[in-house]
Amino acid sequence: MTTLFITSSGTGIGKTLVTAALAHQLHRNGTPARVLKPVISGFTAEDFDESDTAILLQSQETPPTEASIDRMSPFRFAAPLSPDMAAVRENRSIDFDAVVTFCRNAAAGPEEVTLIEGVGGVMVPLTERETVLDWMAALGAPCLLVVGSYLGTISHTLTAAGALTARGLEIAGIVISESEESPVPVPETAATIQRFLPDIRITAVPRLSGEKPWQDAPDLAPFADQT
Ligand SMILES: Nc1ncnc2c1ncn2[C@@H]1O[C@H](COP(=O)(O)OP(=O)(O)OP(=O)(O)O)[C@@H](O)[C@H]1O
Ligand SMILES: [Mg+2]
Repeated sequence: MTTLFITSSGTGIGKTLVTAALAHQLHRNGTPARVLKPVISGFTAEDFDESDTAILLQSQETPPTEASIDRMSPFRFAAPLSPDMAAVRENRSIDFDAVVTFCRNAAAGPEEVTLIEGVGGVMVPLTERETVLDWMAALGAPCLLVVGSYLGTISHTLTAAGALTARGLEIAGIVISESEESPVPVPETAATIQRFLPDIRITAVPRLSGEKPWQDAPDLAPFADQT
C-alpha cells in the first residue's frame, strides 16, 4: 500500500500532468490505483472538461459520472482562487478534518496505490488556519514535489523542499515539468537542484503536447513504489 501526495512549488506547474501520467502508467501496468483531487477550485459545469478532475478520470479511463466525480473530488468550489477564498465566496468553509478523513479512508481502501493531488503550492491556505502543508503533515504520506524549469525555479524548489522536510515529511522525489520557457537546458537545472538535495531522486518531464500529453511522459511509476 503506497500513498503519494503530489504537491508543487506553486500553482499551474504540472501536478495534474504528472499525476495523470502516473495514473495512466499504473493503469497500463495493471496496478490498481485510487486517484484523488480532493479539493478543487475553479470547478464549474461549463469548464468541466478542462478540470483536474476530468483529466485525472480520463487518465484512468473512468467515465465522468456524478459518482466518479464525488469519489475523486468531493470538495469543489467555483471560483478559481485559493480554496479558502473560493469557499468564502459560496458562504462555505472547508472542513479540514473531513478532508484528512476522506484521504485516510481512500488510502485504506483495496487499491495498491493512492495518489492525492494537492491544490496550488505547498503552503496554499485551505482554511482560516490550515494550509496544504498541514494537510500533508496530518496524512504523513511521502510527497512528490512537482516543479518547473523557469527562471527562479531553483529557489522555489529548495524553499518548498525545505518546508516539507522541516515538517518531517518524506520527499519521495522531485519531478521537473519543463516550463514553457527555460533559461538553461533542463538537465542543468536538475543538476543544480541535485547538488543541494543529493539524496532525492529527480526526474524531468519534457515539454509535451497533444490532447493527452500525460500519455507521453517518461516512466514515473518508480515514484509510486515506496515499499
Ligand atoms: N511538461 C509539460 N509539457 C506541456 N505542458 C505542460 C507541462 N507541464 C505543465 N504543462 C501544462 O501547464 C498547465 C498547468 O499544468 P497542470 O494543470 O498540470 O498544473 P497544476 O500544478 O496541476 O495546477 P493547479 O495548481 O491548478 O492544480 C497545463 O495546461 C499543463 O498541460
Ligand atoms: Mg492541478
